Amino acid sequence: MKVDVLLGLQWGDEGKGKVVDVLTPRYDVVARFQGGPNAGHTLEFEGKKYVLRSIPSGIFQHGQTNIIGNGVVLDPVLFKEEAEALEKSGVQLKNILKLSKKIHLIMPTHRLLDAANEKAKGGAKIGTTGKGIGPTYTDKISRNGLRLGDTFHNFDAKYAAARDRHVAILKSMGEEPEFAELEQKWLDAIEYIKGYDIVDSEHLVNRLLKEGKSVLCEGAQGTLLDVDFGSYPFVTSSNTICSGACSGLGVAPNKIGEVFGIFKAYCTRVGAGPFPTELFDETGKLIRDLGHEYGAVTGRERRCGWIDLVALKYAIMINGVTQLIMMKSDVLDGFDEIKACVAYEINGERVEEFPFSIEEDEIKPVYVTLPGWKTDMTAFRSEDQFPKEFKDYIAFLEKELETPITIVSIGPDREQTIIRK
Ligand code: GDP
Ligand code: IMO
Ligand code: MG
Repeated sequence: MKVDVLLGLQWGDEGKGKVVDVLTPRYDVVARFQGGPNAGHTLEFEGKKYVLRSIPSGIFQHGQTNIIGNGVVLDPVLFKEEAEALEKSGVQLKNILKLSKKIHLIMPTHRLLDAANEKAKGGAKIGTTGKGIGPTYTDKISRNGLRLGDTFHNFDAKYAAARDRHVAILKSMGEEPEFAELEQKWLDAIEYIKGYDIVDSEHLVNRLLKEGKSVLCEGAQGTLLDVDFGSYPFVTSSNTICSGACSGLGVAPNKIGEVFGIFKAYCTRVGAGPFPTELFDETGKLIRDLGHEYGAVTGRERRCGWIDLVALKYAIMINGVTQLIMMKSDVLDGFDEIKACVAYEINGERVEEFPFSIEEDEIKPVYVTLPGWKTDMTAFRSEDQFPKEFKDYIAFLEKELETPITIVSIGPDREQTIIRK
């Protein structure tokens, strides 16, 4: 059996949580492979709304196995809060959730380091989610990290050594770290996690595949936040791209099947960093209001702009996307005209390949303008109901992106999803 991967093609918040939930009935297993509680994946169904941070979005369907893979960084305190809330609302999480022993742990001092690093950057700060993501991955790569499996062997000493190292760094940065209360909560949460199935998830995934089980991998963040291919340094600290599913779960590249690339009919970004098609005018504000574009984790305003096909083509290439999923087209339902960036103008030259730098002052988006469809589509249930202008918009995108759009989302609810024939 193959492993399918669903991932964001923009700067995150494309609607991954919603679509993973919709696709879950097709699969036996859903797995997260990177990122951590910087993610906020929203699901809506039966009048209820859930925001998942570390737990995969496949927990609400028919008892599928859900895995948090080795590539993920986990904050035990936030995990405990999330899991307890889900248990309270009736999800039998302990029966279906497995955690990798190789998950790296976010410590209280990682969060302090995240804040201190941002402070030290001053005006050049990344605008991180403040969840300790960068420092935790830094420790992983520099071989100083603490893993979930370590909690079973001589953990107190390992924890104390890592914490003391962080305290020394924080002091050298002029900080006076205080975290006694948080530390106790964190240690309690570690004991709580031990009540879950902590497994060699690479063996589990491969065993399930051998048994003929199907797996869907759920990306977090988006391709333009990838540490290698995103708008560096304004990125997250993991590989958000398709290859992240291989390293973050232990599945071989030849096991990858379909790659679902998900994007909004426009574009958003939260935090700092370049965004060539960003709108600073009333249209940008209108998109933010209509799309409720406020961060699911931090509540921050999301910056809004037109769809960027230069960036999307790049993301499709890097990920090997086989199917596209377009989200939030309903947000544009009332627009007279819609713009799509088809090239950048850099120093008077037309550029169609995503360049090394996309800093605003060097770059001018080249737009084509398409007619709006001026139709409320939020109650539609079949693509046959789509107005001509919307069908033309889809055809235009498919031609430009050379990839079929197989799912169109027309509202936040599970039911507001059109699977195209
Ligand atoms: P994720 O991080 O990729 O899972 O996305 P988020 O949950 O952070 O952000 C997507 C937001 O858009 C959430 O509030 C969803 O409920 C909402 N959403 C998802 N799909 C649609 C859609 O098709 N239309 C509208 N209007 N909202 C949507
Ligand atoms: P989901 O999975 C949108 C952004 C932050 C910041 C940068 C680095 O919900 O799509 P970090 O805390 O990771 O070190 O922050 O990345 N960021 C996201 N933006 N959606 C996300 O996740 C994000 N996770 C991180 O705003 O600019
Ligand atoms: Mg999100």
